[in-house]
Amino acid sequence: MLRSHEALAAVRADFPRFRIWREDACGRVRFVSRSRCSGLNPHTVVTADLGELRVALTLAKPCRDSLATFPACEPAPGQPGSGLSLHRASVARVYDYVLGGKDHYPADRAAAEAMLGMFPEIGNMARANRAFLTRAIRHVARHGVDQFIDLGAGLPTSPNTHETARRIMPGARVAYVDHDPMVLAHARALLAVDDGISVVAGDLRDPAAILASPVLRTLIDFHQPVCVLLVSVLHFLPAGDADAVVAAVKDLMAPGSYLIISAGTSTGTDPALITQVQAAYGDTAQVTGRSEAEITAWFDGLLLARPGLVDVWSWRPDGARLTRRPPQARARFLAGVALKPASLPQWQP
Ligand SMILES: C[S@@+](CC[C@H](N)C(=O)[O-])C[C@H]1O[C@@H](n2cnc3c(N)ncnc32)[C@H](O)[C@@H]1O
Repeated sequence: MLRSHEALAAVRADFPRFRIWREDACGRVRFVSRSRCSGLNPHTVVTADLGELRVALTLAKPCRDSLATFPACEPAPGQPGSGLSLHRASVARVYDYVLGGKDHYPADRAAAEAMLGMFPEIGNMARANRAFLTRAIRHVARHGVDQFIDLGAGLPTSPNTHETARRIMPGARVAYVDHDPMVLAHARALLAVDDGISVVAGDLRDPAAILASPVLRTLIDFHQPVCVLLVSVLHFLPAGDADAVVAAVKDLMAPGSYLIISAGTSTGTDPALITQVQAAYGDTAQVTGRSEAEITAWFDGLLLARPGLVDVWSWRPDGARLTRRPPQARARFLAGVALKPASLPQWQP
């Protein structure tokens, strides 16, 4: 583990185009960087954490499409901010590309194009998933829930969870959780606009650490109903880890809480497709197809809202364009929303 002055020296060495210093004021530490030359965006970055600063500088504009000229941009293993690679596809950035976003790099585009080539409906499916997420949040907010934990939140995509929730519950608090450094940097810059929104770095393979996070605990009151979103993320976890995170969340939620899940399923999906999608991600993500019965079991002990666990297109369609699964689709993506009922005797927050 690098000591703090060594870590600062390492970031300075890696980013010679920026002047970087540490400030201590009123008991708080912050790191500031200022570009030495024009044409670099952002010109000034201020973060509370050196790893985050490293990510922000890695994302500085000239790095975006001419990575070869910035070979030292990526943090070395073990350094703060490691885990960020612009040369390997990332789940969040591939998804951003498929949704028509702008935060992706050549490796992400190559993986996404490979998937779209074998599986053209992936774009419609991703958009149907986002539309489901919005409808599901509205459903939960209309039931008076005003705190949300978005696990595997992804890169900011409008409307974001807090925007949808606050249209119905203006004071809604939202914690965005992800393990991707670029997601965290963008979320901190774009989403954490007030005290009611937090961004939590966490790996869903360690749900206990996420649920115990002081940042999360400061924002979310687990004695009150909470809505937990696991939308389009559980199929990126090994089966045992996916089951464990769902169980941990269900355990901790107070009665009156909601669980929102969407996930790809092996039931009704061409097995070759799962293999091909896995090949496109390579070793950056594990793709696990769970059966419809296994996904249904995630809702055990909860009350599934109508229409139950269904194809993502048909969960309470609201007249939008994408309301049905295309008949020729070779893959299925399931979605459900469930309430934790009041009478679970052994509940302890
Ligand atoms: C396909 S995106 C879904 C984003 C958003 N939930 C949605 O449905 O629009 C999956 C997200 O899960 C995150 N993710 C994948 N594995 C994760 C893990 N083990 N821990 C935390 N986040 C993870 C990825 O970084 C990515 O941002």
